[in-house]
Amino acid sequence: MIARRLFLQGLSATAITAGLAPEISAQEAASQAETEAARQIAPSADSSPLRVGIIGPGSRGKELVRNLLRVPGVRIVAAADVYPPRFDQLNQVCGYTVPSHTDYRALLDRKDLDAIVVATPLGLHASHVIPALQSGRHVYGEKTMAYTVDQARDIAAAAKVSNRIYQVGHQYRYSPWIRAAIARVKAGEIGNVTHILGYWNRNNDWRRPVPTADPSGHLERLINWRLYHEWSLGLIAELGSHHMDIANWIFGSAPTTALASGSICCYHDGRETDDNVQVVLSYPAGRRFIFTSMTDNAKQGDQLWLYGTKGSLNVTLEDATFFYEPRQIVKAPTNGKGEEKGVTTSASYRPEGEMPYRGPGKPLTIANPEDATTIAIRAFVHCVRTNTQPIANADVGLGSALGVIHANQALREKKEVAIPLIST
Ligand SMILES: NC(=O)c1ccc[n+]([C@@H]2O[C@H](COP(=O)([O-])OP(=O)(O)OC[C@H]3O[C@@H](n4cnc5c(N)ncnc54)[C@H](O)[C@@H]3O)[C@@H](O)[C@H]2O)c1
Repeated sequence: MIARRLFLQGLSATAITAGLAPEISAQEAASQAETEAARQIAPSADSSPLRVGIIGPGSRGKELVRNLLRVPGVRIVAAADVYPPRFDQLNQVCGYTVPSHTDYRALLDRKDLDAIVVATPLGLHASHVIPALQSGRHVYGEKTMAYTVDQARDIAAAAKVSNRIYQVGHQYRYSPWIRAAIARVKAGEIGNVTHILGYWNRNNDWRRPVPTADPSGHLERLINWRLYHEWSLGLIAELGSHHMDIANWIFGSAPTTALASGSICCYHDGRETDDNVQVVLSYPAGRRFIFTSMTDNAKQGDQLWLYGTKGSLNVTLEDATFFYEPRQIVKAPTNGKGEEKGVTTSASYRPEGEMPYRGPGKPLTIANPEDATTIAIRAFVHCVRTNTQPIANADVGLGSALGVIHANQALREKKEVAIPLIST
């Protein structure tokens, strides 16, 4: 299977056609994918018992647990973490004492587990997800799928061989307003989308407090792992991976090349990963995704702009707004007496200037704007119970990981890098 051609509405046509008659058309496959996606996203009446363990109940892990506990029938039965204070925090979330292990292998040895959530730092994902799948458990593994291309490929292979569900933490694939907006974009509402711009800006130093004395610096690197190369691919992975996933989804492809720059311009505190990054990913037919992130000004916040030939779409974590604009008819500017003033190109003199289009936006209204993570977790449980391929499957994870990993390579090598076709 070729990863670049996947990502059709969140479920690849290839995945959907896998067990079906070979003559099924791409359109039929896409429509079946949508029907299956709707089934995964909807709440289910099934409350059969599901015993879940978690490796890495840190900040994100506890949020995933909160959401798991909202699904009838789910119980958290074990946790593994190398930092013991996490266990008390987890018990508070669960409201009972969860059996705990400081070595994840002890968790894998348990006989009372059906599924495992992996929410450890990025550099450790493969070393936890792969053994978890090999132990016969279904896995919800946080994004970014893996730290290297080989690791991502190994996770995809382990998921395939194990015949278990592997869902990656790209929860925006499940977001109702993003799904509704993208369906309209795919139906042609803003024309041919050639460029997507993603901003994810914050005004804070991205640091977490280290609560106790730490003479060796070990705790600093464990708690603030995002700031060090050992386990982190920086802002591109932590924030950009979500936007790259949405770009892959819209363009229906994984990227083909990556360019990137970045620097530490604000926080000279010993960190290794950049505090601002700029990435350009190319897609087939000359299309582009541009991601920028800075951590000393939050004006633009987290938002995506999709630019099409008939309009634009703005997507945030809370809403989506369409803007429609007429295609500009290029006329030679005149001096008011009917005389042309120069050749009409964007470089020539124009009295009115190239102002931004300021037509009114049309917000997308959605009946039930449920939290994306809540839906993604509920959908994972549904997939486990029904043995169904998840929307955010290994191909989805691989597509975004390819962008993240190669953009980091481009950043390091200070040159454009080609992104190879990857088979899963
Ligand atoms: N999908 C999303 O929107 C989203 C949001 C936040 C974080 N994340 C992802 O979740 C993952 C975790 O992020 P976080 O913010 O929760 O980090 P965190 O540091 O708060 O939590 C990670 C936990 O893993 C534990 N850990 C480290 N090494 C371990 C090991 N060898 N064995 C067992 N446990 C170990 C740490 O002690 C910590 O408790 C990252 O991959 C991150 O990108 C995803």
